[in-house]
Amino acid sequence: MFSNFQHLIDLNDYPVAWWNSLLELGVDIKNNPEKYAHECDNKIMATLFYEPSTRTQMSFQTAMLRLGGRIIGFDNPATSSVSKGENLKDTTKVVSNYADILVIRHPVAGSAKAAAISADCPVINAGDGGHLHPTQTLTDLLTLKIEKNKLSDMTIGLCGDLVNGRTVHSLCKALSCYKNNKFILISTPELKLPFYIKDIITANGSTFEEASSIEDVIDKLDVLYMTRIQRERFTSEQEYLAQKNIYVLDRLKMIKAKKDLIVLHPLPRVDEIAIEVDDDPRALYFNQAKYGVYVRMALILTMLKSQASSELLKGKVHNGIRCKNPKCITNSELYLPASFTGSGDNTLIECEFCDERMLI
Ligand code: NCD
Repeated sequence: MFSNFQHLIDLNDYPVAWWNSLLELGVDIKNNPEKYAHECDNKIMATLFYEPSTRTQMSFQTAMLRLGGRIIGFDNPATSSVSKGENLKDTTKVVSNYADILVIRHPVAGSAKAAAISADCPVINAGDGGHLHPTQTLTDLLTLKIEKNKLSDMTIGLCGDLVNGRTVHSLCKALSCYKNNKFILISTPELKLPFYIKDIITANGSTFEEASSIEDVIDKLDVLYMTRIQRERFTSEQEYLAQKNIYVLDRLKMIKAKKDLIVLHPLPRVDEIAIEVDDDPRALYFNQAKYGVYVRMALILTMLKSQASSELLKGKVHNGIRCKNPKCITNSELYLPASFTGSGDNTLIECEFCDERMLI
């Protein structure tokens, strides 16, 4: 299924060279903001946020305003017609005719792709459930480029909720495409990185190991990416409470770390980084949030200028088979085609919306 517009649903839909040119543009925007101040005069960006957000929504809005454009949208679906039962297709169809570019955050995996299918303008995925968050990854890559001056040859520790953390999924998929990166996945058994992401890391030629404590591995790391336990994605409060507070980065743990380690966090922080760490020069999460504006400016400019189209669905519908992931958009927006890749001799198929794997 083709769309007449270029969308950003998953960074890995694009070659690494495309990411690199976005990052270069982001650096130029950071250094020469005045050059870009009128690039989006008369353009409108819509932000449809079906889930809470501070940084992603405001940095997108700031990015558009700094390019001279204007913004519309909602950050609480309860105040829009969504509360009257409007489906994602209709909301997207209508708003994409009001705006030149649409940014969507939604609690269900695959929702950004579903929105792109019916949109009449480019769509950017600002987080689809526990699945992906490509623009946070662009932010993370720009931070590494500026602060470490490289995107390869690093040992990267990722700590916390690796199963539900969409920022972690997108970051692993991206950083494993640069040479000689090694991942140390620090989590409890319940919060381990999904198998399909581990397979992507390996297929891209990178390696990973798993660890259960920060103390055991912190001395090996060039980057420590801390994440929040994603309370809203647990099925019960009890399951969340069992994971809460297991990982806390504090000043004592930082003593063992390299002098040039950098600590990143997509934010919001709950209690996984003690406030005392903020004064350590290696704590760069607030700079990281700032860099998000530059890279989102670069992304908006690039998408608005592009004449390209996108291939949104490449797979096929199998008679009577629906995705078995209850958190997949094809199970809440039932008009969507349940499209899967992988077939023929291969009995393993993968949902094109949420990446859930199934045997047929
Ligand atoms: C993250 C998100 O929404 O996935 N935040 C962000 O976009 N900066 C991380 C989180 O909510 O934990």
